Amino acid sequence: MKRSTNDTGLEGLRIAVTGGTSGLGLALVREWHRRRAAVAFIARGRENVERVAAELSGVAGIVGDVSVKEAIHPIALQVLGRLGGLDVLVNNASSLGPVPLRALADTDCEDLEAALATNLLGPFRLTKALLGALRASAVEARGGVVMNISSDAAVTPYPGWGAYGASKAALAHLSAIWNLELEGEGIRVLARDPGDMDTPLHALAVPGADRSTLLRPEASAREITRAILEAMPASAAAREEAA
Ligand SMILES: NC(=O)c1ccc[n+]([C@@H]2O[C@H](COP(=O)([O-])OP(=O)(O)OC[C@H]3O[C@@H](n4cnc5c(N)ncnc54)[C@H](OP(=O)(O)O)[C@@H]3O)[C@@H](O)[C@H]2O)c1
Repeated sequence: MKRSTNDTGLEGLRIAVTGGTSGLGLALVREWHRRRAAVAFIARGRENVERVAAELSGVAGIVGDVSVKEAIHPIALQVLGRLGGLDVLVNNASSLGPVPLRALADTDCEDLEAALATNLLGPFRLTKALLGALRASAVEARGGVVMNISSDAAVTPYPGWGAYGASKAALAHLSAIWNLELEGEGIRVLARDPGDMDTPLHALAVPGADRSTLLRPEASAREITRAILEAMPASAAAREEAA
């Protein structure tokens, strides 16, 4: 069954995002809910998950930690159970590594491991766990898009951002390779930098930054959503027109 494309551009689209209780993830959940997508989000803090799910009727809040190997299949099963399939996965949850940010020589191996677990292994494992559903979505020409949220730190070597930057660079490269490998099946794997946004993560990384110079996460959420729609298999023009 193909979904309708003559409405908000997202109606009926089944989307899951990791880290939906703050910053960009929360803005994405609100944007998609407003545009009548079927939405599931994942975060660790139960209280915040319940608050967001209560605020947005019909949205599925899932408590889980994407950095923990054993948590991935329970998360994937809940996503599929709540949405009945999956058209788009957005790997957005992220760890800065050690805070305050510090030089690599002062970074513990455990802090690098923690950044890689959240920013690289989590997206890899969750995508693998949901690949069957994304393949089914691509076959039905409904979707089949993975959006990995990257950073300019993936390409620019900022001193002090070693653990985070290395994990984001690896995620971007993983995305590019996976995109080529899955091309023949109609699945797109993208990585996008959302820009410097006024979020708790940014405040933690750069305390005292001039917030008036930062993007609103809502603006980045609209751009990320546009990029997802552009990558969709069919009727992209119709969806864009509606959006
Ligand atoms: N803000 C910026 O300026 C900026 C710039 C470039 C790129 N980015 C990227 O944009 C994305 C969103 O960043 P943000 O600034 O919106 O971050 P944020 O405000 O800190 O929000 C992070 C979200 O991820 C969840 N989360 C963190 N670790 C998790 C884990 N292990 N498992 C599941 N959920 C987890 C958090 O909830 P819990 O803590 O409850 O789990 C929260 O909902 C990230 O990928 C970041 O690297 C941000």
